[in-house]
Amino acid sequence: MSGVSANWARGHPWAAVYDFVVERESLSRPLGQLLFGTDTRLLYDRMRAVDEVPEGGAVLDIPCGGGVALRALTPEHRIRYVAADISSAMLERTGHVARELDLDQVETETADVENLQYADGEFDLCLSFAGLHCFPNPDEATSEIARVLKPGGRFVGSVFLRDGGIRYEPMVLFGRLAGVMGPSGGMRDLERWLDDAGFAESRVERSGAVAYFEAVR
Ligand SMILES: C[S@@+](CC[C@H](N)C(=O)[O-])C[C@H]1O[C@@H](n2cnc3c(N)ncnc32)[C@H](O)[C@@H]1O
Repeated sequence: MSGVSANWARGHPWAAVYDFVVERESLSRPLGQLLFGTDTRLLYDRMRAVDEVPEGGAVLDIPCGGGVALRALTPEHRIRYVAADISSAMLERTGHVARELDLDQVETETADVENLQYADGEFDLCLSFAGLHCFPNPDEATSEIARVLKPGGRFVGSVFLRDGGIRYEPMVLFGRLAGVMGPSGGMRDLERWLDDAGFAESRVERSGAVAYFEAVR
């Protein structure tokens, strides 16, 4: 495992800060606007994609981080929900959230998004919020996600893009110096990662420096 992912796997202090903020909409909305010029309501809205997964279906949430996307799941929704991350500290947080919300359909698993242990076509939906910019090779991560999705499966997520302009350079610099941000890319790179991985019907909505996307395998 290399660079930025190794830093996350070791349990970077930024992980706890990030998770504390993203779990609290009253904090993430003003901070998202201030630091990334983004409307984080778009993030929480996209978590609702899980509603469309039929009973018996399977979801991969990678990176699950501290389990923020679990808020869209209910105990009655009987699906297989795999919450995966490279950081055991993050997985412990997710496990705690799942227990608090009584979500016994959630499985937490250590996984490297660039080398997934899952079979081809195992999932109906992959969620990947604030992930691609934290990975060393976002193109390889996108291809692996495509591989484990069924034909017709959906990929829904968000990414901090690098081409937002000078206003966001301090956050890029911070992410690099702290060792929590990978190479990321611009809007064209995101479109290329999706196209090269074989995704179709891509829809990307940009809000400040963050792109919220969905695509079909
Ligand atoms: C900014 S957090 C986002 C987490 C969560 N989706 C959220 O929105 O709160 C980035 C996450 O990526 C995870 N990560 C970094 N490299 C990874 C890899 N190669 N495979 C899986 N997870 C990875 C980190 O451990 C961290 O939990």
